[in-house]
Parts: sequence; structure tokens; C-alpha cells
Amino acid sequence: MKSNKIVIKELSPTDVGKNYLKWMNNKEILKFLESGKTKIKKKDLQRYVLVKKNSINEFLFGIYFRKSHIGNIKLGPINFKKKTGNIGYIIGVKRFQNKGFASEAINKILNYSFKKQKLKKVIANSEEKNLASIKVLEKNGFKKTKSRMIKRKYGKKKLVYFSVDKKTWLMK
Ligand SMILES: CC(C)(COP(=O)(O)OP(=O)(O)OC[C@H]1O[C@@H](n2cnc3c(N)ncnc32)[C@H](O)[C@@H]1OP(=O)(O)O)[C@@H](O)C(=O)NCCC(=O)NCCS
Repeated sequence: MKSNKIVIKELSPTDVGKNYLKWMNNKEILKFLESGKTKIKKKDLQRYVLVKKNSINEFLFGIYFRKSHIGNIKLGPINFKKKTGNIGYIIGVKRFQNKGFASEAINKILNYSFKKQKLKKVIANSEEKNLASIKVLEKNGFKKTKSRMIKRKYGKKKLVYFSVDKKTWLMK
């Protein structure tokens, strides 16, 4: 099902519900991410959301499908001097993956980044093995810029970096 029915909305601590808490404790959903190595409680997420809500250079949005909170997408940190910003995203409810929702959410966040935040370039990175993540970036006009091996507490992995600039995105 391909649709344009998702809504993205900036999160507040009161938006932290069962879905969000469930995916933040789901090792399979989080296998390519740094999160998920320790148990996360509701109050940890509420604190995290509050920090982002009060931040001047990070913006955390919930992805909603038919009023159900199915994922998150974040813009930031933004470098206002360089007019660049990073994005990160997750569709945390398995049955809502592979339905075009992340692609659509990225399109919305790019619109917000370039039009509202007046950025020139948006950056993302993904583990090389995370093919679905790379696909959603490429579908939104991102191009690979570099890759490197990184050493984390839980092992080594290859990260691939992508970016898309405003001009390229507007021409799509
Ligand atoms: C990566 C992720 C955000 C993708 O979200 P999604 O809503 O399922 O993505 P979409 O449905 O918009 O697109 C997925 C695309 O990848 C493709 N895909 C999915 N799994 C794939 C795989 N194993 N190999 C190759 N392509 C794959 C799909 O076919 C689809 O492409 P298409 O539209 O051309 O058919 C989601 O899987 C997720 O949240 N994963 C866990 C968290 C995560 O890894 N976040 C990214 C951190 S960098």
C-alpha cells in the first residue's frame, strides 16, 4: 500500500505512549541503531522528548498513520551557520514497514528543512547493511558522499553518509 496519509507532528512528552515505548525496547527494530542496548522506561523517553522540544537546533517529530504513532523522524542537530542538518528516522511498528511511510516522512522533513528552516543541505547516514534505509534516502534524492568503518562499544560497522541539497531536491 503506497499512500500519502501520514502526518508528522512535533512530539511533546505527553505523546510518549505504548507504541513508542515498545519499539524502543525492540531489539529487532533497533538492530541497526545505537539505541536498544539497555531497557528504556517511559520516563526516559519523556525526558528525551522534552530535551528535543526545548532544543533550538533539534526537532523531533512523531509519524502518525490514522492517529496511531508508528515512528519518529528527527531533524538535527542543525548547523545554522552552514545551513546544514542531519536527519534520523524510524518506522517502529513492524506491520507498517515497507508501505512507503518512511519515504513519505523524509519527503515531509526535507520540505520542512529547506522551506521552513531554510537549510541548504540535509545529511543522513546509515549502516551499509541497512538496505531499506539506504533505499528511502535514494528515493528522496540523497547521494552517497563517503563511507567509513566506525568502532562502537558493541562492535565495528560500516556507515555510509548521504546528502541532498536544496537545488537538487527542488528539481525532483
Ligand atoms: C529503514 C526504515 C525507516 C524504512 O522504512 P519503511 O517505511 O519501511 O520504508 P519505505 O516503505 O518507504 O521504503 C522501503 C524501501 O526499501 C525496500 N527494502 C526493504 N527491505 C529491503 C531489503 N532488505 N533489501 C533491499 N530493499 C529493501 C523496500 O522495497 C522499499 O523500496 P520500494 O519503495 O522501492 O519498494 C524502516 O525499516 C525502519 O524503521 N527500520 C528500523 C530503524 C532504522 O533502521 N532506521 C534507519 C536508521 S539509519
